[in-house]
Amino acid sequence: MPWNPDRYHQFSAQRAQPFEDLLALIHLREGMRVVDLGAGTGELTARLAGALPGSDVLGIDTSPEMLARAHELERPGLRFQEGDLGALGGTWDLVFSHAAIQWVLDHPRLVPHLFEIVAPGGQIAVQLPSNHDHISHRLIRTTAGEEPFRTALDGWTRPSPVLSIEEYAELLYTVGAEDITVFEKVYPHVMADADAVADWTSGTALVPYMERLPEELRAPFMERYRAQLRTAMPESPVFYGFRRTIFSARKP
Ligand SMILES: C[S@@+](CC[C@H](N)C(=O)[O-])C[C@H]1O[C@@H](n2cnc3c(N)ncnc32)[C@H](O)[C@@H]1O
Repeated sequence: MPWNPDRYHQFSAQRAQPFEDLLALIHLREGMRVVDLGAGTGELTARLAGALPGSDVLGIDTSPEMLARAHELERPGLRFQEGDLGALGGTWDLVFSHAAIQWVLDHPRLVPHLFEIVAPGGQIAVQLPSNHDHISHRLIRTTAGEEPFRTALDGWTRPSPVLSIEEYAELLYTVGAEDITVFEKVYPHVMADADAVADWTSGTALVPYMERLPEELRAPFMERYRAQLRTAMPESPVFYGFRRTIFSARKP
């Protein structure tokens, strides 16, 4: 099951809050070459381009479904193309990424690579969810460990590549970054109930599980997961505190 732009957009207001925090860290300069890694449907890339007058902004993503939506937003200074954020070359005045690098493993290798493609005097600015130990995510792994899903997934669960904020700071320091800012923030969301939280995770964290499960087990997996989440989060409305990591640094 690929990324679903409509499902992802269901919570776009909540997902835009960390974008504003990340944007606030960017040092504005005229005429920057900017890349947005994992641009998705491109709305936030378009907002980024709007906030950086005179810049040339490229959004890359691996999902044809998300990119199909993003292409509709193209205009002079804003374009999108298929590309893997872990394998990007070139040099960029701003390497930007919002809620995407958590999909690539091995951050001790990835972060130095992303800093390597920052041009001298340029900046890296990244936001990624660090919510992997929240009950909404733990129950995905619990469900994946139950039969018949465990056998269908061959025992697979998705490891989180997300490091601690100290580790991101140290990685950036090690590669010679300046103006290092790293922090974690809880975004307080009030959701209707546990099912709304399941709708949220079905647009993101559940995607690789659905991709791996055979068609006939996808709905039963969701039902089992929803049942466990309703037990764990019985309130209505329910508080969904969502932890995210933000880091930024400049290249001398
Ligand atoms: C949670 S969405 C974020 C989209 C957008 N940046 C936003 O904040 O609304 C994550 C995006 O990362 C993309 N993605 C996952 N792995 C990727 C990779 N290796 N290279 C590029 N994009 C990737 C997915 O296709 C998806 O569109």
